[in-house]
Order: sequence, then structure tokens, then C-alpha cells
Amino acid sequence: MLTRDVLFDSRSAALTAALGESIGRMLRGGELLALHGALGAGKTQFAKGLARGLEAPGDEPVVSPTFVIVREYAGRVPFLHADAYRLTGPEWTALGLDERLAQGAVLAVEWWERVADDSPLRPEVEVTLDLPPDSDDENARRVTVRGRPEWIERWLAASAEIVDRLARPG
Ligand SMILES: Nc1ncnc2c1ncn2[C@@H]1O[C@H](COP(=O)(O)OP(=O)(O)OP(=O)(O)O)[C@@H](O)[C@H]1O
Ligand SMILES: [Mg+2]
Repeated sequence: MLTRDVLFDSRSAALTAALGESIGRMLRGGELLALHGALGAGKTQFAKGLARGLEAPGDEPVVSPTFVIVREYAGRVPFLHADAYRLTGPEWTALGLDERLAQGAVLAVEWWERVADDSPLRPEVEVTLDLPPDSDDENARRVTVRGRPEWIERWLAASAEIVDRLARPG
């Protein structure tokens, strides 16, 4: 059960990516990450950081997978970055990514909520990007990371450097 939420206020795309990198470093393969948030919230920026944390080579830029649906990067483990924005549940299933996950790939899915009901998969971590309340800074984002309490504790303990650079509301 994903019962623990940790909130951050990010002030730049680079900080959002750094947060993603800290999570990417924790992943060992076989994890599904759900990335939630409105268009332009920063899900792809976050995924760029995940790729770094998974040691995907820097010459493969992580770009929005919207038009290709899924992109694959070769890191410590295969990293699959998918966008479910335009997919139906059956179209998602037909991609066969469940099997890739079972074989040890890491799967990060933007707009996971669109296909979640049609998939037997359950995310290991859910990340939500929002505009923070009462901010007129166009680079401000509220990032909520949700996971199992013990996973969150391990991640925070291993990630003090980035965690200290971000404000922790609430
Ligand atoms: N704090 C921040 N965190 C993340 N992105 C930011 C931040 N501040 C500004 N940005 C900018 O917001 C944009 C986020 O775009 P991105 O493609 O990551 O959004 P997305 O959530 O993946 O959208 P889509 O649903 O269309 O795929 C980028 O241009 C990025 O530079
Ligand atoms: Mg995107």
C-alpha cells in the first residue's frame, strides 16, 4: 500500500529532474512509476532525471514520448518511458510492457491514470506534479511522491543532498 506522501516545492526544471534522479538511483528493475500531472506540469522533466539515476547514457536525450508512446533507454537496467495520454486500456495492454516489467525493466508512465483500470499492474511509486497554491512563479511546481513507508524512508535517507535543496511544505 502506498500510504506515505512526501511533498516538495520545486523552483526549476533542473530541481525536478534532480528529484527524479534521486528516485532513479533507488530502482533495481521491475518497478512501475506512475507520473501524474497536467500538460506541461513537468512529468517528462522528472523522467529525464529518472534516466540519469538509472545511468542511461547522456547521448540519448529523454524527450516526450507522446508521439511514439514508449521510448527505451539502456541504463543499469532497461528504462522504458511511456505516455498513455492518447491510449485506451486495450491499446496499452497490446504494447506488452507488463512483460518487459516482469523481465526487469523500469517503466515510468505519464498519464498512468488513463489506463490504470485496465491493467493488473500497480505502481511502486506515484509522483504527482501540480502548480503550488498561491504562486505566481511560472517555474514553481509542487511535487508529491507517494510510496510504501519503508521505501520512502530508504529513499529520503539516501537522498539528503537533493531533499535539502527543496522546500518541504506541510
Ligand atoms: N519546477 C519545474 N519542474 C518541471 N518543469 C518545469 C519547472 N519549471 C518550469 N518547467 C518547464 O515546464 C515544462 C514541463 O514540460 P514537460 O514536458 O516535462 O511536461 P509534461 O508534464 O511531461 O507534459 P505532457 O503531459 O504534455 O507530456 C518544461 O518546459 C520545463 O522547462
Ligand atoms: Mg510529457
